[in-house]
Amino acid sequence: MDDQRHDERPIGLFDSGVGGLTVLEAVARRFPEESFLYLGDTARVPYGTKSARTVERYTLQVADCLLRRGVKGLVVACNTASALGLAALRAQSPVPVIGVIEPGCRAAAAARPDGGQPARVGVIGTRSTVASGAYPYHLAMLDPSIQVISLACPLFVPLVEEGWVDHPAVRMIVTDTLTPLFTQRLDALILGCTHYPVLKGVIAETMGVRVALIDSSAAVADELSRHLGGLIAPAPRGAAQRLAFLVTDVADRFKETATRFISGIAVEAVEVVDL
Ligand code: DGL
Repeated sequence: MDDQRHDERPIGLFDSGVGGLTVLEAVARRFPEESFLYLGDTARVPYGTKSARTVERYTLQVADCLLRRGVKGLVVACNTASALGLAALRAQSPVPVIGVIEPGCRAAAAARPDGGQPARVGVIGTRSTVASGAYPYHLAMLDPSIQVISLACPLFVPLVEEGWVDHPAVRMIVTDTLTPLFTQRLDALILGCTHYPVLKGVIAETMGVRVALIDSSAAVADELSRHLGGLIAPAPRGAAQRLAFLVTDVADRFKETATRFISGIAVEAVEVVDL
């Protein structure tokens, strides 16, 4: 820390794998003087098929690893960990913690092009996120009249982790999975998993132009901007941004998938860590 108002330490972000890089891309672009330390828990991906107890434990372990490396704030760039581990993490973290669900709900509640609140909002996410009820809960806090239709899409995360984005089977799987939503007259659809923005093109084509797609990464950047200069001291003016990457297994695979699908950031050195 160079003085009381500035802090050059990085902000930690984490996800089960490459998905949280969609959030990193947004915050790294919005705050070019801030440095970020990203951790992908690639040894244990996916989180979305696991129990609440397990995901909470993983969340605390990953956060602990980032805290030991001296981060000044934490962004839980994973909906599943935000749904199931955020409360426990906030209760014990010595630094501020930002999740993805509340910012995403705020963005969805303001999503109608006419500026009005959407009446019917769809949420797609992992099985564990949908089962947690976190999205309907937070949307109801904002506006109890919003009707929420949730759908788990368990095949989407493996597609992204495997790099099956342009593959012909993807359109078929996405269309088949989203079919229950076609008759729901949705105003907005929340991409309630940070892996899903990688499939945004095909999801948008499948859902049609009338449904606003909500990618919470911009909303997370808004939330971080409220913290910087408040609870989190910003980097010194003119600081050069540093991006560093940690994974819990198979660094090359992470690097290859990240480089192919996340164009906005350079994933260079990737270090393998044990939690
Ligand atoms: N990207 C994560 C999420 O936002 C985790 C997906 C998974 O590991 O199942 O939910």
